[in-house]
Amino acid sequence: MAVLKVGILISGRGSNMQALIQATSQQDYPAKIGCVIANNPAAGGLERARAVKIPTHIINHRDFKDRQAFEEALDAKLSDKGIQLVCLAGFMRILTPWFVERWRDRLINIHPSLLPAFPGLDTHKKALQGGVKFTGCTVHFVRAEMDHGPIIIQAAVPVYQGDSEEILAARVLEAEHKVYPQAVRLIAENLVNVHAEQVFIANAIGPANATFNPVTGQYSG
Ligand code: GRF
Repeated sequence: MAVLKVGILISGRGSNMQALIQATSQQDYPAKIGCVIANNPAAGGLERARAVKIPTHIINHRDFKDRQAFEEALDAKLSDKGIQLVCLAGFMRILTPWFVERWRDRLINIHPSLLPAFPGLDTHKKALQGGVKFTGCTVHFVRAEMDHGPIIIQAAVPVYQGDSEEILAARVLEAEHKVYPQAVRLIAENLVNVHAEQVFIANAIGPANATFNPVTGQYSG
């Protein structure tokens, strides 16, 4: 079985990166991590990746004269490493249309809300202020508009009365760590198709009229 080579871009602690690393360490997982790139030399995730001997690179945006030059360096590194799919995992730089188009349908992101609700920062604060009863997380293909693009997988997470931002963030993060590896698996298995800016999963398994719960990996219905 051909194994998809994944590159991960991080800026911070890298817990989603860690979830992907863990998944790819399983023998039957159809993807492997080719490299981890951080734009921030202090990103905690770098240590986590080094600890398991994954090649890491720092491409600090501050070292470049403009966004385009920074992205050209990113692109060159990813291409040089033979990366087939780029996963943004807490990568805190907005990517220009140039980069996004170059990696179209080969660039995915995880966002801690049920998009299109609550794009941008402070998603949990917005969810609490909005009084929603469910929030969650979304893995989507990246488009030039921030936190926008065909949705691959989502998980709904309940919001309880009395939740703080931190408690809600932790509950959502647990779901993130489950769905990101599932989304990468679906792509690696060539099951994900984008038509008219919507994702269709080929051979979607499970009984008709069932709801798939990505958090448990179970169908119910
Ligand atoms: C996650 O909540 C992710 O959804 C968002 O940024 C956060 C990154 O956390 N895009 P981590 O670095 O993966 O721990």
